[in-house]
Amino acid sequence: MVKLVDAPHSKCGTLGYVGSSPTAPTLMNTYNRFDISFRKGKGCWLWDKNGKKYLDAVAGIATCSLGHSDRVLRKKLSAQLKKIQHISNLYNIEEQELLSRLLTNSSCAESVFFCNSGAEAIESAIKLIKKYGNNKDKSKESLILAAESSFHGRTIGALSATGQPKYQKGFEPLLSGFRFFKYNKIDSIKKIFNESVQNQQIISGIIIEPIQGEGGVIPGEKEFFRELRELCDMNDTLLILDEVQSGVGRTGKMWGYENLDIEPDAFTLAKGLGGGHPIGALLVNKKANIFKPGDHASTFGGNPFACRAAITVLEEIKRRNLLQNVMLRGNQIEEGLIKMASDFPHIIKGRRGMGLLQGIVLQENSIDLKSVTSKAFENGLLVVAAGSNVIRIVPPLTISKNETKQLLKKLYSIFKDFC
Ligand SMILES: Cc1ncc(COP(=O)(O)O)c(C=O)c1O
Repeated sequence: MVKLVDAPHSKCGTLGYVGSSPTAPTLMNTYNRFDISFRKGKGCWLWDKNGKKYLDAVAGIATCSLGHSDRVLRKKLSAQLKKIQHISNLYNIEEQELLSRLLTNSSCAESVFFCNSGAEAIESAIKLIKKYGNNKDKSKESLILAAESSFHGRTIGALSATGQPKYQKGFEPLLSGFRFFKYNKIDSIKKIFNESVQNQQIISGIIIEPIQGEGGVIPGEKEFFRELRELCDMNDTLLILDEVQSGVGRTGKMWGYENLDIEPDAFTLAKGLGGGHPIGALLVNKKANIFKPGDHASTFGGNPFACRAAITVLEEIKRRNLLQNVMLRGNQIEEGLIKMASDFPHIIKGRRGMGLLQGIVLQENSIDLKSVTSKAFENGLLVVAAGSNVIRIVPPLTISKNETKQLLKKLYSIFKDFC
């Protein structure tokens, strides 16, 4: 039976901030947040409502490439708002074409599909692999391989590719057809290839991060990726790199794969691409350029505003020579972390990372990640956890030498306090 709502008590059609219980939570309970709202951001700094200043080594989790409230980005986006904000992919979008040209001219890709986030870019990659496999041999079961301790996002497809059961728990059944190998261990992949031959299956694609970010800042090894590339070529398997976190200069190279001396068949981007504005992308080479009209789409994907943000980020990385800055600041952080590890060996096991994607590896059973991120927060420094025992440092690509010095000084005194 339909229950009728009593019109005078219904909230339908009313709009206001003050309800019957003004303090009741109205956001879904999906995040463990620090209880703070930032009022202002500039460069690598954020301010709370009391004027307390924080050095931001989180940067929206490797997203605000140019820092907060960047002058050039503000100017370009204001102009874009005046020009045109959103149009459908039913029409040509000039900003999208410009951006795809910038991306393909600077990478191994020949073509780009735009979406709005990392998970969506991975979903696009999963569809691409499925289509590639079906084109090859529809009669055989088609598999997708991904790495243990990987992270590819929270939508069902991306979650199915994520090699961390803690994120998958409670959302089963996930997509079928995924198999997991050990990161940087080629024998672990070869074993799955051998089994697939015996089981009459084909491995249509592999999704892998060039450096695992969320899983604990674990850089890919050159030799492993070289063998992986060979294996993919031999078996006609698409090699797709998830560059959502590592791409757009974060490692000191424009694309993470440049550190590994291989080229993928496709790669995904998001996070740093829009400098804080939502945009994701799947980039493909000739072999992987198989989508046809109707295969895939996104209402907001490649929206002119988001594309303008990304164009500006790419142009500014070049104009300000930010790749060099990432290398220099990355080296500076590495030196500082090595000293910290030697001064506090009972709590810091070591460091890992590339460029401005750095991780401090804590000793097992020493201090927990939450106590470090909380102490850093109290001390006006924002850092984020990765994996089970790593503190991730991912500041804006624009961080200066002096700011990096301050970052290291704060970290040093935080770890000293734990001793
Ligand atoms: C490597 C990688 N892939 C995919 C994602 C998912 O991106 P998003 O949160 O934009 O969906 C993330 C997010 O942390 C990531 O680090």
